[in-house]
Amino acid sequence: MSGNVNIDNNRVPRHIAIIMDGNGRWAKKKGLNRIFGHQAGVNTVRKITEACVEFGVKYLTLYAFSTENWNRPKEEVDALMTLLVDSIEKETPDLMKNNVRLLAIGDLARLPQKAEEKFRNCMKLTSANTGVNLVLALSYSSRWEITDAVRQIARLLSNGTIDINDVNEDLISQHLTTNHIPDPDLLIRTSGELRISNFLLWQLAYSELYFTDVYWPDFDKEELRKAIISYQQRERRYGKTSEQINN
Ligand code: IPE
Ligand code: IPE
Ligand code: MG
Repeated sequence: MSGNVNIDNNRVPRHIAIIMDGNGRWAKKKGLNRIFGHQAGVNTVRKITEACVEFGVKYLTLYAFSTENWNRPKEEVDALMTLLVDSIEKETPDLMKNNVRLLAIGDLARLPQKAEEKFRNCMKLTSANTGVNLVLALSYSSRWEITDAVRQIARLLSNGTIDINDVNEDLISQHLTTNHIPDPDLLIRTSGELRISNFLLWQLAYSELYFTDVYWPDFDKEELRKAIISYQQRERRYGKTSEQINN
């Protein structure tokens, strides 16, 4: 149905966050090892980043590796880390060409040293780019992030830098790893799972949610277009009535 509808360029979501899921099942369906699914998933990352450049999306946040994913079999974790290093190396020229700024949220210190270094170098190199902000969530979980923010705020309170009355929503937002990144307008999860899996719990408070059965390696520009069109057909009321929004 939405295949023929065009995106309204005046109402493109500023920030899209995606839980990229289904790489393993995509590979299994083809009789391949899970890691082939992750490799195919990297191609989708490239295509979707380019589609965001084209559609005018300013922030794209991708859940690439969760805190809980450290509990996967060691071979899979190692393969994912190797893939991360290789992909950054391979994709950096295209990031520069497409004017993409790479950012990260998550506990980067937990990554293997080489991966962390490559990542930080790429962020530095792309830091002046002004097109899409590509935010990778790596070793990220929302409860980790919120706990860390609470710890930082507790420190400021205990050393007298702030008073208890200074603790408000803005202060909490400022101590999350997404400080300076607007909240997502649209959250997409692929692969048919209907859950948030510890992703951006604070930031998604008023995001529109979109779920598709498509596995991440099969997700493409057309699927992204469908998600954006679904987003554009909704009314964001933020607790108000429809009449208030339209008057
Ligand atoms: C998402 O795909 C990628 C990561 C979590 C790293 P999965 O690896 O979770 O794929 P499924 O859910 O097993 O199919
Ligand atoms: C969520 O996917 C994390 C990423 C996409 C990186 P998972 O496949 O790990 O999620 P659960 O554990 O099945 O919910
Ligand atoms: Mg999964």
